[in-house]
Amino acid sequence: MPDRIPLLIDTDPGVDDAWALLMAFASPAHRLLGLTVTAGNVGLDHTVRNALKLCEVAGVELPVFPGCPVPLVHPAGDAAYVHGRDGFGDTGYLPPARPAEAEHAALAMIRLSRAHPGLLLVCLGPLTNLALALRLDPGLPARIGRLVVMGGAVTGQGNTSVSAEFNIGFDPEAAHVVFEAFESFDLVDWEAVLRHGLPHDEVERWFAEGGPKAAFYAAISRRTREWSEDRRGQLWHCADGLAMLAALEPEAVTGWARRPVAVETGGRLARGATIVDWGNRSGRPARARILEGVDPARFHHWLRLALA
Ligand code: RIB
Repeated sequence: MPDRIPLLIDTDPGVDDAWALLMAFASPAHRLLGLTVTAGNVGLDHTVRNALKLCEVAGVELPVFPGCPVPLVHPAGDAAYVHGRDGFGDTGYLPPARPAEAEHAALAMIRLSRAHPGLLLVCLGPLTNLALALRLDPGLPARIGRLVVMGGAVTGQGNTSVSAEFNIGFDPEAAHVVFEAFESFDLVDWEAVLRHGLPHDEVERWFAEGGPKAAFYAAISRRTREWSEDRRGQLWHCADGLAMLAALEPEAVTGWARRPVAVETGGRLARGATIVDWGNRSGRPARARILEGVDPARFHHWLRLALA
């Protein structure tokens, strides 16, 4: 069997993060190095506890590294209205038995990139931890084989404001630092997520087919699915799951568009927007490889594999 790909995931679990993490746990081709955790969907205390709990439910022993509790510069609101106050549907689950690591997420990123040069880094939440790591070690990008980011809204159709997607909007300064530091990165944006919705009734059938992981996930996602059905109708959207598919199985991606992308960090109307130079007018480097689509069958396969 070929060597497994070393994989590090930065995450703010969060209900869709959880499905993406279960996908990664199920991948035979990847060797998970750990989870670095940031605030975002909910506060850091909850996101760390949720990461530990998910590992426990999935039966995986992974180091969980707490990261930044707040954005780099300006405060930002969470997404508890989507994910529940605790980020996992407020089910009142028994606290995880295992504690988090003492090492900060940013330092863990640097150390693990030195121990595993060429690793795959997947960022499912705000980019605060990675930005901090880059400020501590500007040589970090050279040791990252591939960076996949869930974030942005490439034609300005945001979900946390008119034009900003949540992960970028939570910490625009961090996103700017990251987007300027990597010569190339893969971007899975909110609008691509909207093009790959999941019928609620099909998702419920998948839960019914699964085992204990599926039952846990059905419980923690119930509130989010009900909220989504009320707000967005018959399709549910797993943003982080789409990004994780692109990371774990790039062959499932049906198209990419490489363009310059900048992050609006000021502005009255569009702070957090990802400004894509679709016409290549700026002459700036086209660092972002923007996902255009995936094979839905492969997406559904991984989502179900994650619950098996
Ligand atoms: O905009 C979707 C993103 O924001 C996902 O990563 C979700 O978990 C939230 O953090």
